[in-house]
Amino acid sequence: MKKFGLLEYPHKESLSKQVFNEYFKKAHIDAVYEDIVIVPDNFDDEINKYIDSYDGLNVTVPFKEKVIKYVEPVEEAKEINAVNCIFNNKGYNTDWKGFYNSLNSSILKEPIVLVGAGGASKSIIYALYKMGIKKLFLVNRTVEKAEKLRKIFLSKIDIKIESFDHLQSIIRSFKTFINSTSIGMFGESFDLEARDLSNLSLIYDIVYNNTPLQKIAKENNIKCIDGRTFWYHQAVENLKIWNIYTPEIFNETFKTFARGE
Ligand code: ATR
Repeated sequence: MKKFGLLEYPHKESLSKQVFNEYFKKAHIDAVYEDIVIVPDNFDDEINKYIDSYDGLNVTVPFKEKVIKYVEPVEEAKEINAVNCIFNNKGYNTDWKGFYNSLNSSILKEPIVLVGAGGASKSIIYALYKMGIKKLFLVNRTVEKAEKLRKIFLSKIDIKIESFDHLQSIIRSFKTFINSTSIGMFGESFDLEARDLSNLSLIYDIVYNNTPLQKIAKENNIKCIDGRTFWYHQAVENLKIWNIYTPEIFNETFKTFARGE
């Protein structure tokens, strides 16, 4: 039996575990997908054991950067400085590809504001650069983290940093609003009202669950792409890398989990 898994901390029943296992069953693939919890202090001692004994791995918070030195990162993963998929000792980043494939460039109107400067944000910036976007406005609660991202992508995309506290007053000047923070995961909301968002043609909210932001978008007929759609598109990329991708079964299994498809 093949073994796949998601390296994570702390433990959270993942959507991946649920859906990948269903996919294996439907596609008659003799495999299992597990959530693998590693206590961060033990990461360096334990990581090789998992890389060696699993046929494919996903990596999530907080290990996407830490894992790089234990694998051979492909060029894109190196440029993003984050690995979220492992196969045969190689480290891939399927987040950027998922974001890239989830968007048809015709619906991505500029100017674009991206909120968040964590791990997910890096893959999104890289995807925007690959889509040919030359300029981006970046907002983050902790300005230093936004500064760090600006420097990482200096040669690729022009990043202008704006203050998180001014989001409400500047949001009207944008056409696309991308949320890459976890705001909304536990029901928290941005300090934004429907009228602040009325100029937007697209809201992309990477949070999986139905957030207050997604709710406002739907109520006001603003095109909204959510975290499940993002997740759906990166999931395909993992299966392709692991050589177990069957399009029909994938569509049948994963589409029900990706709202808005
Ligand atoms: P991920 O890898 O999923 O992006 P992360 O690296 O922990 O996760 O980043 C989380 C992002 O959400 C960060 O941009 C964080 O802002 P800070 O850099 O200031 O910490 C943002 N975030 C989380 N909760 C937030 C909140 N309540 N208000 C504003 N930003 C928040």
